[in-house]
Amino acid sequence: MARYLRLGVNIDHVATVRNARGGSHPDPVRAAVMAIQAGADGITAHLREDRRHITDADLDRLMREVRAPFNLEMAATDEMLRIALAHRPHAVCLVPERREERTTEGGLDAVAGPASLAPAVRTLREAGIRVSLFIEPTVEQVEAAAALGAPAVELHTGAYCHAAGDGAARELARIVAAAARCDALGLECHAGHGLTYDNVAPIAAIEPMAELNIGHFLVGEAVFIGLEASIRRMRAVMEGARAAGATGLIGLSR
Ligand code: PXP
Repeated sequence: MARYLRLGVNIDHVATVRNARGGSHPDPVRAAVMAIQAGADGITAHLREDRRHITDADLDRLMREVRAPFNLEMAATDEMLRIALAHRPHAVCLVPERREERTTEGGLDAVAGPASLAPAVRTLREAGIRVSLFIEPTVEQVEAAAALGAPAVELHTGAYCHAAGDGAARELARIVAAAARCDALGLECHAGHGLTYDNVAPIAAIEPMAELNIGHFLVGEAVFIGLEASIRRMRAVMEGARAAGATGLIGLSR
């Protein structure tokens, strides 16, 4: 039997649409509650330094009103650590952050990364928060994340999602190898960034994969078919790929 694969729904872009008009609609907390009803296993949101998506007030409400594991994406800064320790979410995913980037464009460098990384991992773990590091999908980065004491990593799938043909196959092979190294080292393996109905199956089929975090596509698709339907369909694609992967039937069909 295939191992269960969790779906974390990232609600940042519900907040982005709300913020475009500065009001209160659409409400990302309402979206989070609906996502759980539609079969998400958890909710993810990125509190950025510039608060371009969710705000501190959203985080307060998400922690109070959503009855499901909450994964806070954040940079390893003193400000964010203070906020994480005040809220104690189920999980924190440490991500790199550059103010000028449109989205999180690359993974953290766990090999030569900021000196703040190791103490941040320790502080969060001591507070009972599950920590993951958002890294490029390489064996070297996975090993460095393990050396930093992280119990989980999230593999950045952006390069795979943006590649085509042989390039996509090469990127997928890097993700498969990185996931296998996670498994060997006892790290929980997650993945995310740029995943859609069309490219999620080969990632969902990777045996050690435990969690996928998906946001932009699901929120965009919700414009056409509604949020619950967009999430239910993603779950179905993931589960189909998982079952087919367990029997060796899944391949790269793009
Ligand atoms: N995981 C992490 C760590 C991210 O930073 C993001 C993007 O905010 C995602 C997953 C979700 O990516 P997308 O919105 O492209 O699905």
